[in-house]
Amino acid sequence: MKEIKIGLIGFGTVGQGVVKVLRENKKEIEARIGARLVLAGVADKDWRRKRRVSLEKKLRLSDGYLLIEDPGVKIIIELVGDFPGVKQMLVDALRAGKYVVTANKALLSRHGDEVFAAAKESNSEIYFEASVAGGIPILRVLREGLAANKIKAIYGIVNGTCNYILTRMDESGLEYGQALKEAQEKGYAEANPAADVEGVDAAHKLSILLRLGFGVGIPFEKIFRKGISRLSHLDLQAAKELGYRVKLLAIARVTDGRIEARVHPTLIPQDSLLASVRGVNNAVYVNGNFAGPTLYYGRGAGMDATASAVMSDVMELARNIAQGRPPGRLRPEGYVALNPHGLKLQPMENLVSPYYLRVWVKDQPGVLAQIAGILARCRISINSVIQHEAHDQDAVPLVIITHKAIEKNIQKAVRDINRLKIVLNPVQLLRIETELS
Ligand SMILES: NC(=O)c1ccc[n+]([C@@H]2O[C@H](COP(=O)([O-])OP(=O)(O)OC[C@H]3O[C@@H](n4cnc5c(N)ncnc54)[C@H](OP(=O)(O)O)[C@@H]3O)[C@@H](O)[C@H]2O)c1
Repeated sequence: MKEIKIGLIGFGTVGQGVVKVLRENKKEIEARIGARLVLAGVADKDWRRKRRVSLEKKLRLSDGYLLIEDPGVKIIIELVGDFPGVKQMLVDALRAGKYVVTANKALLSRHGDEVFAAAKESNSEIYFEASVAGGIPILRVLREGLAANKIKAIYGIVNGTCNYILTRMDESGLEYGQALKEAQEKGYAEANPAADVEGVDAAHKLSILLRLGFGVGIPFEKIFRKGISRLSHLDLQAAKELGYRVKLLAIARVTDGRIEARVHPTLIPQDSLLASVRGVNNAVYVNGNFAGPTLYYGRGAGMDATASAVMSDVMELARNIAQGRPPGRLRPEGYVALNPHGLKLQPMENLVSPYYLRVWVKDQPGVLAQIAGILARCRISINSVIQHEAHDQDAVPLVIITHKAIEKNIQKAVRDINRLKIVLNPVQLLRIETELS
């Protein structure tokens, strides 16, 4: 059997998972590739730290360049993260003629163009299935399974930390801070959770989905982003009363010949499939113009699930190498140029959506009339209102659901409402998706 040498850089959570799957599924992997994968070495900064997966001393290296510069190594797996020097390491690996596999969504979403250009120039390849939704092979779905479709929309629950927090707030009545603390205790959230809870991680993944699904390279900074840290249990409870659940969604959707790219907490119908995705799980809903709506569900992170996705890329490359075929298929120009309709970003202010507004107001007559007056002046019509009993100090939460309105108008209305003397806290504004089944 032909041997193909691979080198791993980063022996953290996912790196260890890769070594584990290589060992445990060796027979299946070799049979499916028709070649033997040989781990030439693993580079990491710190070998004193205790790991969950053991590794022979002779394989432990301190510098990834020892693998990149080894002419025998064909595939480099980068599982370090978006740290200084890592982008250069990927570029250097590609220029050295290596095929590269990475899970580095942060790096690809910010520097994708540069890295893909390096792959193109050096006639090499970079594969990145594990960068979105962990164990769910969603990038292969977009590239292969749905390749004949024009994608109309993608809605993803792609951050397990946020989904866990929202599930706990919804089902156990926890406030945001309590649910976050619980997620941290269980290892589902980092000590500094900002990248997850502020939607940064989901936006990184969305930028990759936008490339693969629509062929558009929307810079990460241009993706509208709002996290979950300002949500209160009250919002989830009110949403439920109105027949919705709140999920952090990464949304890419074609409207009026333009592409929407946004990440924000979203009210979705309680009986939609995405609404039933609980805990740390991920799901991606893709609507293709021929396949119709399809849904992909599973574990979005973690050692094993992510390693499964990394290895799917390694195996595809290795199979091609073993059969003497240039990998070729995922060439970046293939999907970057795949924008036959010249889709441009839809400015957020043009979004048309129903909205949820929650505001704490003084418990006095005429309050609703003042707010309704502002909404009417901004050409926004009210669908429903919930007003509960007064809480402490005569403050009362008012929840309003609007009919479809234009984002620009709702933002103006929110600014005007926030200026009212009877308003005690800034308006909580959430968007509603009604098209999900
Ligand atoms: N964890 C997941 O579930 C998951 C899911 C999907 C995608 N990903 C992506 O997968 C990648 C790896 O994530 P992870 O969770 O496995 O991270 P991790 O546990 O922090 O592992 C990264 C490892 O790389 C080491 N490292 C840092 N700089 C290095 C360098 N210059 N050369 C060699 N090794 C270096 C780190 O050492 P130190 O700790 O000493 O710095 C650490 O052992 C990231 O891009 C992440 O976004 C992770």
